[in-house]
Amino acid sequence: MNLDPVVLESLFERRAALNTLPSAVITVDVFGRTCDYDRILPLCERFDIPVISDSAEALGALHGSAPAGSTGACAVFSFNGNKIITSSGGGAIVTDDADLANKTRFWATQSREPFPWYEHEEIGYNYRMSNILASIGRAQLARLPEIVERRRAIRDIYHSELSGTDGVQVMGDPAWGRWNGWLTTVRFDRDRWPGAPVRVRERLESHNIEARPIWKPMHKQPVFSRALSELTGAADAIFAEGLCLPSGTGMSDSDVNRVSTLIKSQLKR
Ligand SMILES: Cc1ncc(COP(=O)(O)O)c(C=O)c1O
Repeated sequence: MNLDPVVLESLFERRAALNTLPSAVITVDVFGRTCDYDRILPLCERFDIPVISDSAEALGALHGSAPAGSTGACAVFSFNGNKIITSSGGGAIVTDDADLANKTRFWATQSREPFPWYEHEEIGYNYRMSNILASIGRAQLARLPEIVERRRAIRDIYHSELSGTDGVQVMGDPAWGRWNGWLTTVRFDRDRWPGAPVRVRERLESHNIEARPIWKPMHKQPVFSRALSELTGAADAIFAEGLCLPSGTGMSDSDVNRVSTLIKSQLKR
């Protein structure tokens, strides 16, 4: 579901010829799986383009043995309410680059120059996380390994209940790492199960169970309708065939079994 290195390479080659290479690449570790950094990072290095990873959904995932967010120039995490751990709001930037960290702190604290009065040579932002929210986040962070294990176990139940059905795929680990279990997503083959994501979602909703469509692709968002896009059809296919299943850490095994049973019975209808 992530950035396709083949598409990226072809874009870079075309843009290099026109001298219009992008100034940075923002990769998104969507649904808690890291991108194929073993291919993306050398490619970006070859064209001298820094990589910022949006790891908002991937805290606790691994890329090989490296934690998500440790690749590239810097990465961002979100502690928004729907993330694997939350401080109710806010986020973090992580980097090994001290200059980048200092500059980020400077911008996030209103770009205040070292004067006794408020002196601004640059536009700044009031983007600090409050101590109270940070303390909630730290307490949650200590529980991250336990939450990841529970969420992965929830996916394993869905997998054992649903993956035996022809044309149904419960997504798991990428070939290069370990998923953090954030949201279990399922794909229903369009030819085998036409309309299944909508039918299943509505059936679950009639039982007061929330499931969500897979994220709508950026090129389909009206606000970006005029933006350039590089399409292979993969994002559209995933949007048409995918569904996010209830994955909350508080779900019991029997909750997950109940959701699975409803999904299977809807498919049979
Ligand atoms: C991939 C991704 N990036 C960025 C964000 C935004 O994070 P925040 O809500 O903390 O601004 C989210 C979700 O909220 C996300 O899923």
